[in-house]
Amino acid sequence: MKLIVFFLIVGTNISDNGRASLDSFVPMSTNILLEDTTKNADKSCYRPCKFNVKPRRCHFDFKIEPTIQEDGRPAITVNGMTPGPPIHVCVNDVVIVVVSNKVPGQDLGIHWHGIEQKGTPFMDGVPMVTQCPISYGSSYKYSFRASSPGTFFYHADSVNHQSDGVYGALIVNQPQPLEPHSTMYDYDRSQENTLVVAAKFPELLTGNLEDYSQLKPSSLLINGIEDDFKLFVLPGYAYRLRLINAIAVSCPVVVSIDQHEMAIISTDGKPVKPFSTSSVQLYPGERMDVVVRASEKTGGYWVRVHGNDACANLSAHAMLVYSGFNYTAMLHNGIEDAIPKGDTDTITYGQTLESSQEAPIIIPARSVVLSIDRNILQFKDTDNDFRYISDAIPKKPFFPASLSLKDKGVVQINKKSFLYPNVPLLTRPTDIRKEIKCIVGKEVKNQEPQCMLVLDANRGEILELVLLNEGFGSNDSFTFHLHGYSMQVVASWQRGNDEPISKEEFLKLDTEGSVKRNLQTPPLKDTIVVPNKGFTIVRIKVDRGGSWMLECRSCGLASLPTALIINVPETLPKSLLNSIPKCGNYKPPDVLLN
Ligand SMILES: *[C@@H]1O[C@H](CO)[C@@H](O)[C@H](O)[C@H]1NC(C)=O
Ligand SMILES: *[C@@H]1O[C@H](CO)[C@@H](O)[C@H](O)[C@H]1NC(C)=O
Ligand SMILES: *[C@@H]1O[C@H](CO)[C@@H](O)[C@H](O)[C@H]1NC(C)=O
Repeated sequence: MKLIVFFLIVGTNISDNGRASLDSFVPMSTNILLEDTTKNADKSCYRPCKFNVKPRRCHFDFKIEPTIQEDGRPAITVNGMTPGPPIHVCVNDVVIVVVSNKVPGQDLGIHWHGIEQKGTPFMDGVPMVTQCPISYGSSYKYSFRASSPGTFFYHADSVNHQSDGVYGALIVNQPQPLEPHSTMYDYDRSQENTLVVAAKFPELLTGNLEDYSQLKPSSLLINGIEDDFKLFVLPGYAYRLRLINAIAVSCPVVVSIDQHEMAIISTDGKPVKPFSTSSVQLYPGERMDVVVRASEKTGGYWVRVHGNDACANLSAHAMLVYSGFNYTAMLHNGIEDAIPKGDTDTITYGQTLESSQEAPIIIPARSVVLSIDRNILQFKDTDNDFRYISDAIPKKPFFPASLSLKDKGVVQINKKSFLYPNVPLLTRPTDIRKEIKCIVGKEVKNQEPQCMLVLDANRGEILELVLLNEGFGSNDSFTFHLHGYSMQVVASWQRGNDEPISKEEFLKLDTEGSVKRNLQTPPLKDTIVVPNKGFTIVRIKVDRGGSWMLECRSCGLASLPTALIINVPETLPKSLLNSIPKCGNYKPPDVLLN
């Protein structure tokens, strides 16, 4: 069946109904999320999205547990699977996921990467920032509205759990006529045409008591398998493919398809001006939607995924199979390695694309420079906070952070490493111990190299963040992810020579007017790369409360966290604050001790 017929019919309806039909897509009250929404919930919400129909409640049960897989290797799985069950919904559906932690000795949180969490900042899934961790044997019912269409994914907040297998696709579809580039493709079948790329380590990281700071992934996977995933296509038709880099460590991946061009139509779930290319690079946590037309000779073609950095020399392959072609022969012939050519000119990066909508930024922005660099620090072992880093109870001689500090330092923002607070900042801001907090721009130099770094922001302001990768201590580029918001990437620049760049030098260049910003068509992204000896400048329209992590996704495997919290004041409903689980320390009132 040819799907384009369906588009035309829907398109006709639209012109009949005019814009009225779009009104049903105005988000509803978030109160609904606090009610018990499990009743009437739908387990599979994958369907063609239509106008004028009530959004659904899409219910999933996720059991997170250690499992021995078919190949005999252990993994941490979701319902026995890695990747976990894919979630496909229509925009404005409510996604309900009961997450049960069955991993002995571990605390968990599940992050919905790219989801805005409008009105539900307590569903963002960051232990000790937006919620108490889900302890072994207990569960947490996540419930949030899929308020924006796009390609997203979910993953355990901890790098270790994610690397061991806790991740999966999360696709928010919308009625085809609303898709800005729907005329470019015939098929948008998110269930069949999504490629989730992951990296597998030679051993489990969860609960690992060895020093694994130098451990590297041993294989790349596409939808959980190395070379066997198949994309079936009909000759002549164009397909929308969704690419997700679900790797938790420093592994950018380059994706190409033999003899087929790709037209990029969106990045991190947001539409871009279509851009045709032969290969794309995705950084950890990044997504891209591309259109591929099956216009070649009937046959089978390799979809190639090559790793870089920590995944250098690793590759995985899927097959693009034209219908009727016998792909068995293709497998027998093996995969000749056509790439990598190392020809970086032909590789396209998400943040260099242009948004398909003009940016509406007029009012001035508050500019904040974040100096990022690898620093060698003198820590006493007892100074380190290991929560959500190692996941294991640190016992001598297991001190991964201090090991990596001694070896090559730790990546910091404004010379601070991140410290998870004593209680969740979002839900109990007044119970945060004062001495652990440090404020961006007011850091005290020789005090507490690890603190809860917070950037206070206010609704209504435009925040400009200059992520400056100084490069005195490393030659690495870093990938950052912002929770809850999309960022306009207005500039990205890398110095061509080997000279580091200091904050003072950046400010001088900026004052001189040498730093050019694209304020017309900056791409909207939640995951960005900050080039070494260079910078990436983003703008955020602050319009929602919450405690939103801005975190490095590639700054070291067994190291201290590189992150800060953008904190926008938010008054949460009493009914919520009364009902959520509590965590933290307990001190009896003095009267009990008399
Ligand atoms: C990749 O292979 C090259 C050449 O064999 C080697 O020098 C390099 O160390 C390898 N990189 C990684 C990350 O294993
Ligand atoms: C496909 O090719 C394989 C190997 O070349 C052959 O054994 C098999 O019979 C073929 N299958 C069909 C349906 O033609
Ligand atoms: C960065 O690369 C340069 C050469 O390009 C080298 O001299 C320097 O030692 C490297 N720095 C680090 C921290 O590895």
